[in-house]
Amino acid sequence: MSFLEYRSTIQEGDTAIVFLGHESMFPVKVQHGSKTQTKYGVIRHSTDLIGKPYGSKVTCSKGGWVYVLHPTPELWTLNLPHRTQILYSTDISLITMMLELKPGCVVCESGTGSGSLSHAIIRTIAPTGHLYTVEFHQQRAEKAVQEFQEHKVGHLVTVKNQDVCKNGFGVTDVADAVFLDIPSPWEAIGHAAVALKQEGGRICSFSPCIEQVQRTCLALEEHGFTEINTLEILPRVYNIRTISLQIPDLGSTAEDSSSTEFDEGSPSNQGVSCTRLQQGSVQFKSGVPLREMVGHTGYLTFATKSLF
Ligand SMILES: C[S@@+](CC[C@H](N)C(=O)[O-])C[C@H]1O[C@@H](n2cnc3c(N)ncnc32)[C@H](O)[C@@H]1O
Repeated sequence: MSFLEYRSTIQEGDTAIVFLGHESMFPVKVQHGSKTQTKYGVIRHSTDLIGKPYGSKVTCSKGGWVYVLHPTPELWTLNLPHRTQILYSTDISLITMMLELKPGCVVCESGTGSGSLSHAIIRTIAPTGHLYTVEFHQQRAEKAVQEFQEHKVGHLVTVKNQDVCKNGFGVTDVADAVFLDIPSPWEAIGHAAVALKQEGGRICSFSPCIEQVQRTCLALEEHGFTEINTLEILPRVYNIRTISLQIPDLGSTAEDSSSTEFDEGSPSNQGVSCTRLQQGSVQFKSGVPLREMVGHTGYLTFATKSLF
């Protein structure tokens, strides 16, 4: 198993995701002789997991069942052991796009934290790119190295245990992109400029507070970065409801009385489609934004280093 490519059968040493339903899941390290307890009973690795296809429905000792899934960076983000605050897939998707990451890119990151973003970056820049990730907390740096090895992506990443604000990324003129998720990113902007390729590249800094953003933007300007933009990404979830309404009988025709389905553009941002069920009654599917939404995670400040 590798986080880079799918393999069909579960093997000793794999990190598999046990999915119990209703968004409840956890990772397991597959090992001969090991047992994993779930609310549905025990999973015996030797007989229930090893040699079985990924995606299998595995029956536990109490008769309940779970699915065993192949890991991906997205599933890892939802299941990894938290050593720090982490970035989630919504922000990661915007970061990947705005940093223009693709196979072969060289990326510098700090801090590594729990490695949530690192796994997504590595999957995107594989098989020929490289990630240099800097983490000044020794245990976190060591744990990250161990996880990258276990997930078979170690050859694509170099972890440096140092202070990025004092010592930088340890590389010069190599990076296509730099990403910062540290409390004082403005202190690392000069080092980011050094790490980026001479011909230029992209930078992104994640900060929860607007005061951090202001200082980062000033530092970006001082170091000659252009196209400075700060974005916040907030997913808007719609609740879909079915509403039945009586319609007044204005004199039906044969055509009107048949069951028809049509979409209506709405003047507001509510999507509405309706089905005429029978004469005199109509059923609407209405999409209404939820009153509450997942709130602020952080601001994403992007900028470009250009040759001129
Ligand atoms: C919020 S976490 C990063 C989480 C990471 N983006 C993820 O998705 O898992 C911030 C990390 O930056 C590290 N850090 C803070 N300041 C640093 C510095 N000056 N140099 C290197 N690492 C630093 C912290 O130890 C912490 O692990």
